[in-house]
Amino acid sequence: MTAGTPKPQVDTSRPHPARVYDYLLGGKDNYTVDQEIGKKLPDASKQDARLNRAFMHRAAAWVAHSGIDQFLDIGTGIPTEPNLHQIVQGIAPASRIVYTDNDPIVLRHAEALLISTPEGVTDYIQADVRRPREILDHARGVLDFGRPIALSLIALMHFIPDEDDPYGITRILVDALPAGSLFLFSHGTADFQPDNVVGHVNDTYGKGGISLRLRTRAEVERFFDGLDMVDPGLVTAPRWYKDTAAPEDEHSSFYVGVARV
Ligand SMILES: C[S@@+](CC[C@H](N)C(=O)[O-])C[C@H]1O[C@@H](n2cnc3c(N)ncnc32)[C@H](O)[C@@H]1O
Repeated sequence: MTAGTPKPQVDTSRPHPARVYDYLLGGKDNYTVDQEIGKKLPDASKQDARLNRAFMHRAAAWVAHSGIDQFLDIGTGIPTEPNLHQIVQGIAPASRIVYTDNDPIVLRHAEALLISTPEGVTDYIQADVRRPREILDHARGVLDFGRPIALSLIALMHFIPDEDDPYGITRILVDALPAGSLFLFSHGTADFQPDNVVGHVNDTYGKGGISLRLRTRAEVERFFDGLDMVDPGLVTAPRWYKDTAAPEDEHSSFYVGVARV
C-alpha cells in the first residue's frame, strides 16, 4: 500500500476470521459482529488463540536461529506484537518477509507489518491462499527461491473447506520451495472436545458465514505428506518447543508442527 492509496473497505456487517482471532487475543481491531462470535465460543478459545500465537513465536525464532532468513507467511492476521518479522529480524536483521492475507482489515493495518529493519525487507500482499500461484509469483519478486525459505500457514487451513482442496494448495506452495526450506503449520482440531462443543463451535462460525473445518490428527498429518517432521513432530501447541524452556502444558485444540522440505 502506498501513500495516497484509498484505505481498503472493511465490511463491519459480517464477521471475519482475522477480527474474531483479534478479539480472542484481546486486540482492539474487531467489531460487534466479531465480538458476538467470540463471546459464543467456548472459554478455552482465547487460550487456544494465545497458545497458537506463542507456537508461532517459538517456531519462527527457532527457524531464524537455524539460519533461514526468508519467510513467506500466509494468513498473517491483524498485526499483534511481536509479529513474525519482529521476531526473526531481531535474530537475523537482514531477514526478508512476505506477508499475505485476504482480509482487507489486515491490509489496512499493513503499515505495522512493513516496518522492517534497514538491512531486511518486509512486504505485504492481499491475496487468497486458494490462488497459491499468484502468491508465489509475487513472492519471487521479493525472496530468492534459490535459497531456503520458511513457509508458514499458521491457523489458516481450517478456514479452507475440503472442496477448495487445502491439500492441493499446500502441495503447490511446498513444491515451489527449494531444498532445505522449512514448513511451519498449525491447524484447529476437534479431537479433544466433546461432539456437542464441536457442533456449537461449527454452528457459531457457520451462522456468521465463516466456514470452519476442524480436522482430525490423521487429516492434519496429511498436510505433511512427503516431508520430514522436525522433532517433536506433530503435537499440540504448547508441546512444540526447542531450545527454550518448556511452556506450561495447557490444554490446546491446535495441532502444530514444523517439517523440512
Ligand atoms: C486465525 S488467524 C491466524 C493469524 C496468524 N497466522 C496467527 O496464527 O497468529 C487466520 C488468518 O487467516 C486469514 N485467512 C482466512 N482465509 C484466508 C484465505 N482464503 N486466504 C488468505 N488468508 C486467509 C484470515 O484473514 C486471518 O487473518
